[in-house]
Amino acid sequence: MGKIAVAGCAGFIGRHMTVKLLDNGFSVVGIDNFCEELYSSTTRRDEMSKIQHQANFEFINADLLDLDLDVLEECDVVLNFAGLAGQARSWEIPRRYRELNVDLAVKLYEAALRNGARKFVHASSSSVYGEISVGDESQPFNPCSPYGETKVEAEIALGEASNGACDLAILRFFSVYGPGQRTDMGFFRIIKSALAGEEVPVHDRPGLMRDFTYVSDVVEAVIAVIDPKVGTEIFNVASSKPTSLEEALDVIEELTNGNMRRRLIETPTGLQTISSGDTTRLRRATLWRPSTSLRDGLEKQVSWQKSFSIS
Ligand SMILES: NC(=O)c1ccc[n+]([C@@H]2O[C@H](COP(=O)([O-])OP(=O)(O)OC[C@H]3O[C@@H](n4cnc5c(N)ncnc54)[C@H](O)[C@@H]3O)[C@@H](O)[C@H]2O)c1
Repeated sequence: MGKIAVAGCAGFIGRHMTVKLLDNGFSVVGIDNFCEELYSSTTRRDEMSKIQHQANFEFINADLLDLDLDVLEECDVVLNFAGLAGQARSWEIPRRYRELNVDLAVKLYEAALRNGARKFVHASSSSVYGEISVGDESQPFNPCSPYGETKVEAEIALGEASNGACDLAILRFFSVYGPGQRTDMGFFRIIKSALAGEEVPVHDRPGLMRDFTYVSDVVEAVIAVIDPKVGTEIFNVASSKPTSLEEALDVIEELTNGNMRRRLIETPTGLQTISSGDTTRLRRATLWRPSTSLRDGLEKQVSWQKSFSIS
């Protein structure tokens, strides 16, 4: 097999993916520019320095919007985890979200086609379904933030660019967590406050339910769809075990040995209230099954966050 390209290889999911591929003996071309428009790159740079010099890894520190993508020349498979995630920030810089989530994805897919790749895997999101995101892939698009809108636009644009020469797997991830999680994400911020003995901000809307998906289960889903037997398709990637925010907070409280002081804050616009992904399609097409419970996954994330302090 040829090389695998990982766009956004320094990011939360991209880095887990890269490490797994390198451990499995693949040659990887990773591209990332440590974009700081969403969160600090300090931890990403530290983590990348641990793998950057491995023999079967070529790391390109560059902006994908500027880079000549003929660097994909020997790549059989292109994985796109690059972009701007997070709903809250998307209200502030919607145009930038469009550039990094739509234009970048299309440029990358066209380069994959031009360079003869056989598979393109694109990180989409349950945000395409909107505030209530319950069910299988046939739910209609109903995004409720500029971020969600860009994820829809990217899916449509990639579908239009697809010509059968390179299989296109679109994966809709549901709330990914685990060690290395982005510092703007809920669990990261809650665990950080709990460990520091600070008040934990909790959204004031009761009944929030999320389908939290452990990052290694997401990585395994990507590995599963790289298989040539899986063609062009859209898949939900979720644990399919929705949990209330209160229950997740109780687990974090127990794992951080604290008396968590919860402070109610206003729930921002564009937040998903219920997510629960049906993954029947992915489980039928592959042997993939999510295997990490919320408790085990949170235990790993808490122990990762205990091991360092972020400024
Ligand atoms: N984390 C989640 O819960 C989640 C859920 C659903 C979907 N997703 C999607 O998965 C993908 C990865 O998410 P993440 O949480 O790992 O985000 P992340 O921000 O940690 O990773 C994205 C990476 O892309 C890089 N990048 C951005 N613009 C770039 C550019 N122009 N050139 C080169 N590199 C660039 C960033 O530097 C960053 O390292 C995103 O598309 C996100 O929308 C994530």
